[in-house]
Amino acid sequence: MIEIVRRLSIDEQHMLLQACRDVVGQAPLFTKIMPTGAAFRYRCTSAGAYGWMSDRKGYRYETHHPVTGHVFPQIPVCIQQVAVEAAAAYDLSLEPQTALINWYDCDSQLGLHQDKTEVSKAPVVSISLGDDCVFIIGGLKRSDPKSNITLTSGDVLVMGEEHRYIFHGVKKIIPNTAPAELNLRQPGRINITVRQVYD
Ligand code: SIN
Ligand code: MN
Repeated sequence: MIEIVRRLSIDEQHMLLQACRDVVGQAPLFTKIMPTGAAFRYRCTSAGAYGWMSDRKGYRYETHHPVTGHVFPQIPVCIQQVAVEAAAAYDLSLEPQTALINWYDCDSQLGLHQDKTEVSKAPVVSISLGDDCVFIIGGLKRSDPKSNITLTSGDVLVMGEEHRYIFHGVKKIIPNTAPAELNLRQPGRINITVRQVYD
């Protein structure tokens, strides 16, 4: 199942945005490199016991932030709660071990890919904040038909069971579509994916 479970209220979005700012204050956003050497077109950081890492050595999870050299801050409780509740709505269990926080500028993109660095098959819960994006959903094969959906601030998406490993990507950010009450400071989009890395 890949479903938008719910839309968070503005108060909840505010709380999650502040939680992301707290994480970024301790574990700054940085740009990763693909194994090919090309730079990703968005910045990211992580919270939790592990952080997703990519460089010339490949994709993997690390316990220390590559720039600060420190362990990642704990996953803020409000992020954990939203993710666990969203998974539970589908009778799926998720033990949050990492929250990957992506920041997309207006010209950022994320190419079609599968999330498969995790050993665990637990669902991935994705929370969107800020500007809308055009999100591409494909199938289990790269060549499968694709459709576009708009992800809006406050959307909570669960990718689980038969859709745990579907191809997906972020085609474009639609600037200045964030709710004004969010006081985003600058156009762009935040995505938090909460994942269980190990069983
Ligand atoms: C991801 O696939 O890791 C992030 C997805 C998103 O930004 O919506
Ligand atoms: Mn992904």
